[in-house]
Amino acid sequence: MKNVLITGGAGFIGVNLTAHLAAHGGYAITVLDNESMGDRRHLEPFGVRFIHGDICDDAALAAALDGQEVVVHLAADTRVMDSIDNPVFNFEVNAVGSLKVLEACRKRNTPRMIAASTGGAIIGEAEPPVHEDMVARPLAPYGASKLAMEGYMSAYTGAYGIGCCALRFSNIYGPRSFHKGSVVAHFFKQILAGKELIVYGDGSQARDFLYIEDLVDGVRRAMESTAVGVYQLGSGYPTTVNELLGVMGSVVGRTDLPIKFEGFRAGEIHRTWCEISRARAAFGFDPATSLSDGLERTWAWFNAR
Ligand SMILES: NC(=O)c1ccc[n+]([C@@H]2O[C@H](COP(=O)([O-])OP(=O)(O)OC[C@H]3O[C@@H](n4cnc5c(N)ncnc54)[C@H](O)[C@@H]3O)[C@@H](O)[C@H]2O)c1
Repeated sequence: MKNVLITGGAGFIGVNLTAHLAAHGGYAITVLDNESMGDRRHLEPFGVRFIHGDICDDAALAAALDGQEVVVHLAADTRVMDSIDNPVFNFEVNAVGSLKVLEACRKRNTPRMIAASTGGAIIGEAEPPVHEDMVARPLAPYGASKLAMEGYMSAYTGAYGIGCCALRFSNIYGPRSFHKGSVVAHFFKQILAGKELIVYGDGSQARDFLYIEDLVDGVRRAMESTAVGVYQLGSGYPTTVNELLGVMGSVVGRTDLPIKFEGFRAGEIHRTWCEISRARAAFGFDPATSLSDGLERTWAWFNAR
């Protein structure tokens, strides 16, 4: 059994990763989460060791990190708008908190650390597809704090030999995302509540949507590899909001979804998606789920909930 610590493991991606690792077998999983967004009850089926605590608290980190062989660091202040309202708090959790996780790894000779970074929010305005060699110009504190984390990860590989791998996630959607404000979760919740779907702009803006099961498979592959540095995990292709709404309509069996178009939001990036060949070559990342299959499984989960 390999000992794995997942910080933020009670959240959307963490619970899905836990379920994936438990189904795969061979992992003894500990989760450290302060439950500010997540909920330990979602981990009950998977027999994990749960520690309620904060990544900024050295004692909680010490309790969680002893004996671990891999750390998957997901805990973060994840919302771009919140980071604009409170940049110092965002820095404390995402930059200082991540540095504390790295420091706890260094003190215990933990050999490997994988962390969740972000695609679009780090790069800012750039001609897509975005890739790892682009100069990062974050437009919000959230992207800046993740970039700081990536910098420290690189330094802890260089100075202390920890195998650090930062994974830049695109827009992740899927089951267990009810608490999220991301576009797919938001639209499905609006549909369930019989409310209007507001689109900012004309719906031509494009994003890279990756199904959660493809993401967590990629995270496990990265854990098992020796890859260090920065890797993008996305679908590798753009989907416009109008295309997304079209597929969502078919999935929920509606041609009459109440969609309202409003003005573009200031500062919003118009089109972005990412190039994924580096992750494919380094650890066999291979997203296989079509948008319609992924949305169907997501809708089934939202409906059953
Ligand atoms: N969901 C996406 O589309 C997406 C895209 C890019 C990057 N990411 C990154 O992936 C990671 C996981 O995101 P998610 O979508 O699962 O979000 P989430 O909010 O569902 O999960 C984050 C978890 O971290 C916990 N947490 C927050 N602050 C903490 C702290 N100080 N100490 C301990 N636990 C803390 C929360 O309680 C929650 O369970 C984050 O780092 C996020 O920035 C997510």
